[in-house]
Formats: sequence, C-alpha cells, structure tokens
Amino acid sequence: MKTFHSIAELRATLQQERANGKRIGLVPTMGNLHEGHLQLVRQADSCCDIVVASIFVNPLQFGANEDLGSYPRTLKEDQEKLTGAGCDYLFAPSDEEMYPNGRETQTQVEVPGLSDIHCGASRPGHFQGVTTVVCKLFGIVQPDVAVFGEKDYQQLMVIRRMAEDLYLPVEIQGAPIARNEDGLALSSRNGYLSEEQMQVAPTLQRTLQEAKAAIQAGRRDYTQLEEESYQKLEAVGFTRDFFNICDAEDLSPADEQCKKLVILAAAPLGGARLIDNIEIDLSA
Ligand code: PAJ
Repeated sequence: MKTFHSIAELRATLQQERANGKRIGLVPTMGNLHEGHLQLVRQADSCCDIVVASIFVNPLQFGANEDLGSYPRTLKEDQEKLTGAGCDYLFAPSDEEMYPNGRETQTQVEVPGLSDIHCGASRPGHFQGVTTVVCKLFGIVQPDVAVFGEKDYQQLMVIRRMAEDLYLPVEIQGAPIARNEDGLALSSRNGYLSEEQMQVAPTLQRTLQEAKAAIQAGRRDYTQLEEESYQKLEAVGFTRDFFNICDAEDLSPADEQCKKLVILAAAPLGGARLIDNIEIDLSA
C-alpha cells in the first residue's frame, strides 16, 4: 500500500487508474483503525478495483471543548492494518494540505435540518464539518463508491442527502456495525474507557435491545420508554445525552403509525461519548 500526503500526487496516480478503467472505492476515516474500519475497506474492495482509505483528524468537525488534541493518532499501526485489509492507497494529508486557505474562509457544505438534530444538537457545527470534509475528499478522490459505517447512522444519512442534493457522482454504501463479543460497538473513543468502564459500556447496546424488544411487544409510549432507558443507563454510570426513538425515514420523533424506526443513542461514560443505534422494522 502506498501512502500519499499530497493531493496532487494522489490525484495523478488515481487519474492513471481511472484511465485504465479501474473502479475506485473510498473509505474516509480519522484513523486509530479497528475492525469496524477494516470491514469498510473489505466491503469497498469487494466491489471496486482500487481502494483508497483516508486518515484525517478533521478539525472542522470538533467543537471547542472536544477531543481534537487528544484524538489518538496511530499512523504506523494503521498503515499495517490497511495493508492487511487490501487497501491500495492511503491518503493522509496535513491540516495545511486540506485547508490551504485556512479554515475560517473554507467553503462549507451544510445539510440543514438533518444536521441540527440528535448528534447535531449536542455537537453544533459537527455535521457541517463532516459534510465539508467528505465533499472535499470526494472532489480529491472522485470515487465511484464510498463506504460509511451504520454505527454513525445520522452521519450516513446526512452524507447520502448531501450526495443526492449536489448530484455527486458517487454511490454511497452503508456497512453494518462491528461490535466486541460483549456487544459494545467498536470505536476509536473506546480507548478513553477504563477497564471498569469497559465492563459497563455494553449496557448501552443492551438498553437499545431491550427498548427494541418492548416496541416489538407492542409498546408505543415512546417518551416513557425513552425515560426508562435513560434511567437504566444512569443507574450504571452513564450521563444523559440522547436516547431518541425516531422515524427511520427522516429521524423525526416516531409516532404510533411509524413502521420503520431507529433508536439513536449517545451516552457519555467517563471521558468517552459512546454512540450506538438499533433499527426496528414493524412492517412484517
Ligand atoms: P471515524 O470515526 O474514524 O469513522 C470512519 C468510518 O468508520 C465511518 O464511516 C464510521 O461510521 C465507520 N465506523 C466506525 N466505527 C464503526 C463500527 N464499529 N462499525 C462499522 N463502522 C464503523 O466517521 C468519521 O471517522 C468521520 O466523521 C469522517 C466520516 C471520516 C469524516 O471526517
């Protein structure tokens, strides 16, 4: 696998690949790679000739009091993992390479509405930072396919909407959530958890599963069910961010008629803000 830090050099290589008729897949990441990321690489590899992964800890999507400075940067280990997973090219630019004119005057891409709820309400400006950098990565790589994890359910929806609205010529694929044996969704931020907190962390997925089972058994008092779920999480040491039972179509609050639902949850535990979700199909 070859690593590029320069946009010009990456583009020259990809232009050649494209001229040879190669189908190009892109997997954007912020690095500190785990099995969830590698699964995206393998999915891209299964439908493309060339896989490009990117590693860029994007300052634009971090709030002022967030973990931009402490976000784990493990380039060497990541390069080895990507090589093993079948990645052809790694794009690992500096901040200056991505934002040569400074961040203040950078053109921004925003998906209004969808970016302002749930994670977007807790982290104002976050999704605008994501869509801006992903749009730039699409411009740089010009992929045929780009793969994103369903773990970041709202992010995937926001990116799909951006690609649709801007007629970007890229197929957006989702990939299932990779989990530990105990059910905890893999995340670079799990590294912030102590051993004790790691024991508690799978309660987030269990609480989602219990809420799903209750809905499948007929419960429709969603506000009450959300409140009970918060209490379960708080009882083991999580603090409240959100646990929202949503219409999977547009992420608005689910009502009794809604057949396709998703529960989106974010729950800080110690120094880590964990996120997870679960889909529920009541149409069968
Ligand atoms: P990052 O958190 O590094 O995640 C990169 C990709 O891996 C995202 O598409 C994310 O949904 C996926 N992913 C992470 N954990 C996963 C898991 N356990 N199972 C399946 N997929 C998982 O998301 C970002 O970076 C950034 O916002 C980015 C899109 C790169 C823009 O900066």
